[in-house]
Amino acid sequence: MAGSNIVKYGIVGVGMMGREHLMNLYHLRTENVAAVCIADPHVPSQKLAVELAQSFGWPLTVFSGHQELLDSGLCDVVVVSSPNMTHYQILMDIIHHPKPHHVLVEKPLCTTVADCREVVNAARKRSDMLVQVGLEYRYMPPVAKLIAIVKDGSLGRVKMVSIREHRFPFLVKVNNWNRFNANTGGTLVEKCCHFFDLMRLFAGADPVRVMASGAMDVNHKDEIYDGKVPDIIDNAYVIIEFDNGSRGMLDLCMFAEGSKNEQEISVVGDIGKGEAFVPENIVRYGTRLVGRDGVQTLKAEDERIKYDGLHHGSSYLEHLNFLYAIRAKGEKAPAVDLQDGLISVAIGVAAQLSIEKGRFVTIEEVMDEFH
Ligand SMILES: NC(=O)c1ccc[n+]([C@@H]2O[C@H](COP(=O)([O-])OP(=O)(O)OC[C@H]3O[C@@H](n4cnc5c(N)ncnc54)[C@H](O)[C@@H]3O)[C@@H](O)[C@H]2O)c1
Repeated sequence: MAGSNIVKYGIVGVGMMGREHLMNLYHLRTENVAAVCIADPHVPSQKLAVELAQSFGWPLTVFSGHQELLDSGLCDVVVVSSPNMTHYQILMDIIHHPKPHHVLVEKPLCTTVADCREVVNAARKRSDMLVQVGLEYRYMPPVAKLIAIVKDGSLGRVKMVSIREHRFPFLVKVNNWNRFNANTGGTLVEKCCHFFDLMRLFAGADPVRVMASGAMDVNHKDEIYDGKVPDIIDNAYVIIEFDNGSRGMLDLCMFAEGSKNEQEISVVGDIGKGEAFVPENIVRYGTRLVGRDGVQTLKAEDERIKYDGLHHGSSYLEHLNFLYAIRAKGEKAPAVDLQDGLISVAIGVAAQLSIEKGRFVTIEEVMDEFH
């Protein structure tokens, strides 16, 4: 591991996702990277991360807060994988720190549009830093393959993008931070920013307005934390209209463990239709001209992936891509930038507001709300 070319990482927040980043970095060790420090106020999380790093021979310096980690000057890159409501302050402190640190921040960028915008504006003044947002579903092999099929024009002009996520309920998190909208930004921000980001990519357009219906109908109703019952929705339908006339639809259900796939994506253009299935890792596509008999099915794989982890290898590819951007020293922009992070949150915020108000909410409305 010796040598000056090592890219040194610090991880802020070493719960489930922070340790997942640690594992991914370990599997990237031949790329000359190392995790050198962590910051987390929760001693059990610190211990688990230290033990994990010890198991592959990486000594970690441990801090209880991100400011000490930044001041230590130990790392070049900071991975922010603390709870959503902490991202804003941690990002602002990184951006305002005299030492430049490149940043990979977990999704959602922040829990509100106003906070995202402040981060985007502040980061503009730091041309010495790269910031990538952890919208890593783009890298899942079947999703990446479907993106390539759409980009090469095989489906024609994309008109409809439908994403169904049917899965298990939200997991238990440290101090149950994910049980309340105030901490997560709301279910449609917290987890569905991934899907709104994909819809933008498939549609090749920006969102104009959003209509949603959703509720907390099954999960968490019998849970109480400090006297409060969770307020996070567990199912929703969301319709998004894009500025090129295409439409997106999200079908979210978080009490659907009886599903073969967790995500089913369908993209229909004026020439053909493509589908991706996760975790089956299958992609199907065909054209109107040839019809059902011509539909092709392929297994999507990416030989670069050395660690599948919790997200089918997408976190590994996300790190690999970000590392290339870092090594290119400003010649290559991060694949998922702050603007992508902001818009994916804005769609989620508009969807949450649409449920509350019972009407279409425009993106302009949520972008302008605080300005
Ligand atoms: N990309 C994905 O698909 C994906 C999946 C899961 C989680 N996430 C994101 O990762 C982040 C962390 O989620 P998680 O599932 O690991 O939660 P978690 O509860 O398992 O871990 C969060 C950790 O952050 C620590 N923490 C709390 N406040 C902190 C602070 N101010 N500074 C440093 N550490 C702090 C907690 O003590 C805990 O150890 C969230 O933003 C979440 O949305 C992304």
